[in-house]
Amino acid sequence: MEALRIISDEHQSLAAILHAVRFMIKEVAAGRLTPDLKLFEAMIHYLDAYPEKRHHPKEDFLFERLKTRTPDGAEALAKVERQHLGAAARIKALEDALQVYKADSSRLVEFSRAFDNYAEFYRNHMILEEVEIIPLAREHLTTEDWWDVDRVFAAEPDPMGGTREKPEDFAAVFSKLVASAPAPIGLGAGPYQG
Ligand SMILES: [Fe+2]
Repeated sequence: MEALRIISDEHQSLAAILHAVRFMIKEVAAGRLTPDLKLFEAMIHYLDAYPEKRHHPKEDFLFERLKTRTPDGAEALAKVERQHLGAAARIKALEDALQVYKADSSRLVEFSRAFDNYAEFYRNHMILEEVEIIPLAREHLTTEDWWDVDRVFAAEPDPMGGTREKPEDFAAVFSKLVASAPAPIGLGAGPYQG
């Protein structure tokens, strides 16, 4: 069940990124950090290109297989599949809020709110998958199913791993995010006292 390890890793990685970006926005809002607009742009680009466009299709493959094995979890599955389809609108909300902020730096609160909404959405989305759907997959998928599912998941490696050549170097983006964020998220010295 390599696929489940990958889902867990990617969810943790996404949660860490969302947390880091929210933290950075709050630091900017408090005047303790200079905003890095290129980094915000890169992060939105990452969220679109990886979690929304690559991570979700892998999950959809698993969900489709699960539906052939059990009618259980139909409501939760329908909900997460609907949520996956909302990717373009979610990303656009972030991009629009960032454009507004870029044009007028006094409107950081709107970008902050958009990002909070995005992060909150994802927190609930990942909980729904992990609490209601993954246990059903563990219970109902066959060994042969896992061969197929694992193969699909392995074919799209986590770009944060940075071990293979990729069209876009997200590992560098994340390193930059980590390096630029204050402690405890980033590499700043000492514990954060905020
Ligand atoms: Fe998902």
